[in-house]
Amino acid sequence: MTDSLSSALAPTITLARGAVMPMLGLGTWPMDDAEAAVAVKGAINAGYRLVDTAENYGNEIGVGHGVNESDVRRGDLFVTTKFNKEWHSVEGARAACLASMERLGLDYLDLLLIHWPNPQQGAYVEAWKGLLKLREEGLIKAAGVSNFKVDHLRRLLEETGELPEVNQINLNPYAQRRDVVAYHAEHGVVTEAWSPIKPAAMLDDPVITGIAAAHERTPAQVALRWITQHGYVTVPKSSSRQRQTENLAIFDFTLSDEEMAAIDGLDRGDASVVDSDKNGH
Ligand SMILES: NC(=O)c1ccc[n+]([C@@H]2O[C@H](COP(=O)([O-])OP(=O)(O)OC[C@H]3O[C@@H](n4cnc5c(N)ncnc54)[C@H](OP(=O)(O)O)[C@@H]3O)[C@@H](O)[C@H]2O)c1
Repeated sequence: MTDSLSSALAPTITLARGAVMPMLGLGTWPMDDAEAAVAVKGAINAGYRLVDTAENYGNEIGVGHGVNESDVRRGDLFVTTKFNKEWHSVEGARAACLASMERLGLDYLDLLLIHWPNPQQGAYVEAWKGLLKLREEGLIKAAGVSNFKVDHLRRLLEETGELPEVNQINLNPYAQRRDVVAYHAEHGVVTEAWSPIKPAAMLDDPVITGIAAAHERTPAQVALRWITQHGYVTVPKSSSRQRQTENLAIFDFTLSDEEMAAIDGLDRGDASVVDSDKNGH
């Protein structure tokens, strides 16, 4: 049951092992616990079913309050969290999962991600083995990674025979991540876009504002529509109920092939993307 502010739900995508994930959810960085509790509860009651948090955001307790105090039952929600590099081992992944579940007040997670590969530490394959065990155990419905490059994904496949169901990466019209997205498409990995509507200047790009005007939509809606029309999941963050509603209201219009191609032409490569071979937590 949802309240009167409820709007249409996002469509879903089925992950490789059968979990059903909404195509659009609420990002919660950099909210603190108090802000997250309010934003998450309000967003869920307004139609959001996917919520994205992380150990590193320090807001899982607040996110959990929002989830558990919303009007929507747990089984209809999809909660994602992520763990830091100190947990990159089989037992570490399990400890991180249990700690996140405790903070969130949940008895399972829909999707758990290795937040950054940290290849210099050299243990992400062990963390991945830990995630596979957690999925077998039923503590998580789906196993994934974040900020992995093609080489990191290849190594998981070579060493474990298994690829993540989702790779959450920095992706937007200015950073289209063509190499990793092509690898995902070839191997059935779902692409999930973080910072989908950043930088703010991108929302002033004449290609995007022109398409927005033609559809009587906002630039943010056009960027989010372009992402989801490509088949990617995304998690825009907003603390404003009005912008949360705006960001979810993108499934009742379609960009033409020409408009999709025009936005495809805005790619600036990986210049703005953090190098996950060198950085991460
Ligand atoms: N895996 C990772 O390493 C990683 C890294 C970064 C982020 N993430 C996840 O991805 C989520 C989204 O990324 P992000 O927060 O960096 O960027 P984003 O969602 O692209 O942009 C958020 C910013 O846009 C504003 N905004 C929201 N809706 C808007 C609209 N309709 N029009 C104009 N401005 C709007 C927000 O302000 P208001 O709140 O005031 O609306 C906020 O300042 C994060 O919250 C987090 O959950 C993951």
